[in-house]
Amino acid sequence: MPGHNMTIQRAVSLKDRNTFGFDVRAEYFAQVDSWDDVNDAISWSGKKSLPVFVLGGGSNLVLTRDIEGLVLAVETRGIEVVNEDSSSITLQIAAGENWHQFVMYCCEHGYHGVENLALIPGNVGAAPIQNIGAYGVELCDVFESLDAISLSDGLTHTFSRADCQFAYRDSAFKRAAKTGFLISQVRLKLNKIFAPNLEYGALQNAMHEHGIDRPNAQQLVDLVCAIRQSKLPNPAEIGNAGSFFTNPIVSPETHEVLKTKHPQLVSFPDGERFKLAAAWLIERCGWKGHRENGVGVHDKQALVLVNQKGGDGQSLIALADKIVCSVSETFGVELEIEPLVV
Ligand code: EPU
Repeated sequence: MPGHNMTIQRAVSLKDRNTFGFDVRAEYFAQVDSWDDVNDAISWSGKKSLPVFVLGGGSNLVLTRDIEGLVLAVETRGIEVVNEDSSSITLQIAAGENWHQFVMYCCEHGYHGVENLALIPGNVGAAPIQNIGAYGVELCDVFESLDAISLSDGLTHTFSRADCQFAYRDSAFKRAAKTGFLISQVRLKLNKIFAPNLEYGALQNAMHEHGIDRPNAQQLVDLVCAIRQSKLPNPAEIGNAGSFFTNPIVSPETHEVLKTKHPQLVSFPDGERFKLAAAWLIERCGWKGHRENGVGVHDKQALVLVNQKGGDGQSLIALADKIVCSVSETFGVELEIEPLVV
């Protein structure tokens, strides 16, 4: 077994390392908190010709089976300043830092731009893969660049914002999930001037409810946390991975047809096209609160699938398939699964 501090274990349960709480096993498992360990682990698996699966917070992952090869839990830590002027600061954050703790760190230091992304589960290294987003802000809005280690040769490559090809819940890393990069460092440019994005409907409602007109950064973080806590199940209590499907984007023509047939359709303009609220489509098909085989659809947010009690990944995917079919039959719209299914 290689490494200075690192041990590689065999047949390790990943139950506590995925927010659905699905009990599958890694053939080999290693926890890495230094770059030396990351390199050692990659070369060890290379010598044995074993595939490497990179695990972050496990909060956007559906595990349906045991994982062959080496599962690498990336736990590298550290936040460094790489650039600073009077109006902005660029931070380099190690992949293993917890995303929400990073948002709190920014809030405390007066670095702005990520308030709306408070309480999103997972680690910083995973944030660019799905271009995390909430309440009108996406990671790409503050993104500068990232470093990623190629799992095939162990070399580090730098990716600019353009290289990452960010889109709605999408990036080059998500599309090529299996090409084998370990995101090691993420650089984000934060604003020292607080210029919040308060446009999102749910945010406006929450501000109104709390009698807050112009929130400061801490108040904005608190509002976002309150909204999330009221709708989204806490993964520590009920297994879930946030939104299970992306919101489908349709042409103006399709939108028009749907709107005529279903006047209550919930949709939002998205450039020339329209984004449909998948939660509304699913709720309309009668799935909200549905349960089967230990898994189900959350009763406060129809877009969130949950591991209610002792369910497994295959039951969850079976349920997801039924939902996709029923939404397709009723609305002619194909839902797409958002988290990575393994
Ligand atoms: N709605 C329903 N039924 C429900 C829930 C919602 O009809 O059970 C309708 C409501 O009309 C509501 C609309 O759907 O206005 C949109 O709901 P919500 O504001 O909760 O947002 P969402 O579209 O369901 C998206 C993101 C979330 C993000 C929120 C806030 C995706 C796939 N999901 O959800 O992201 O937190 O907006 O910005 O884009 C995630 O990606 O895991 C995630 C939680």
